[in-house]
Amino acid sequence: MTDNVRRLLDLINEDIRSMDLEMEPSELYEPIRYILNLGGKRLRPLLALLSYSLFQTDPERIVGIATGIEVFHNFTLMHDDIMDEAPLRRGKPTVHNKWSEGIGILSGDVMLVKAYERLEQVDDNKVIQVLQAFNSCASEVCEGQQVDMNFEQMEQVSEEAYLEMIRQKTAVLLGFSMELGAILADAPENHQNLLKKFGVNIGLGFQLKDDLLDVYGDQSKFGKQVGGDIISNKKTYLLTKALELAVGGLDQDLRQWLAMNDFIKEEKVKAVTDIYDQLGVKSQTETKINQYFLSAYEALDQLQQDQRLAELRSYADYLTHRDR
Ligand code: IPE
Ligand code: IPE
Ligand code: MG
Ligand code: MG
Ligand code: MG
Repeated sequence: MTDNVRRLLDLINEDIRSMDLEMEPSELYEPIRYILNLGGKRLRPLLALLSYSLFQTDPERIVGIATGIEVFHNFTLMHDDIMDEAPLRRGKPTVHNKWSEGIGILSGDVMLVKAYERLEQVDDNKVIQVLQAFNSCASEVCEGQQVDMNFEQMEQVSEEAYLEMIRQKTAVLLGFSMELGAILADAPENHQNLLKKFGVNIGLGFQLKDDLLDVYGDQSKFGKQVGGDIISNKKTYLLTKALELAVGGLDQDLRQWLAMNDFIKEEKVKAVTDIYDQLGVKSQTETKINQYFLSAYEALDQLQQDQRLAELRSYADYLTHRDR
């Protein structure tokens, strides 16, 4: 991570710390302060600032808008954790576990409003463009999220359907982050589009990496329950590939575990991970991740911007090697 990336992260974290969330009723606002202060990579606002910085030298001017995306992201996490019945987030109990599902729903709702409130800072001549881009992105996130839940009930999904689902639930928000920075920086339209393309492609790789860490990560670093996707039959890239590749007894075993209603969680996680190991789906997922990051770099190559592109690229590189 470069000094400049560290400086931008400091700006983001300072802005989040200074958000006025000491409001009543405390039952509504305390969970918001809690989740926002649990940390996280702050990837989305950082992408917005890096994108903006390709064209302008004053990223501090848009930090309040960029952190709006982080508020939106944290709203999606709060609701996602209810839907995924997740016990842990960033190494701490999830909001619905610490308080209640009702609290998680309503605190999440008001976070969505707070995210919009941040967009009030966008200049008048850009606010419609930003709102349109954000609204289409936010609807897609919900659509992808619902498809992700639908897939839990299905026996098998195609790789293509899986990739479209993660494009919606995860990648478009990284694409929007890049696009937002470019719009606010008055970048030409073809640059806005290329940067969005970069964001979507690293977003696809990013979700694949999340699927991988959900099986092979170290829980103390990852901060989420390792094996959670296996427990809930999430049609992750790994499971989709495994179902495609498994034959004979291995295929039977895998399908039996998926069909089981009563099981000991640790046993299922271990058994399915063993099957993944035998099929080599880990390295297949890694190959796919690298492909998406390469596509992202190709979009950057078309920009022919200055050396600041190198910073974006090296940050993306860091994401391919992340363990949290
Ligand atoms: C988690 O996002 C949800 C996914 C899209 C995989 P992050 O991995 O960016 O989570 P934080 O914000 O760093 O905790
Ligand atoms: C994240 O999907 C997508 C959204 C937050 C909408 P996951 O369910 O994989 O995210 P984590 O793993 O809980 O962070
Ligand atoms: Mg989920
Ligand atoms: Mg989840
Ligand atoms: Mg996940």
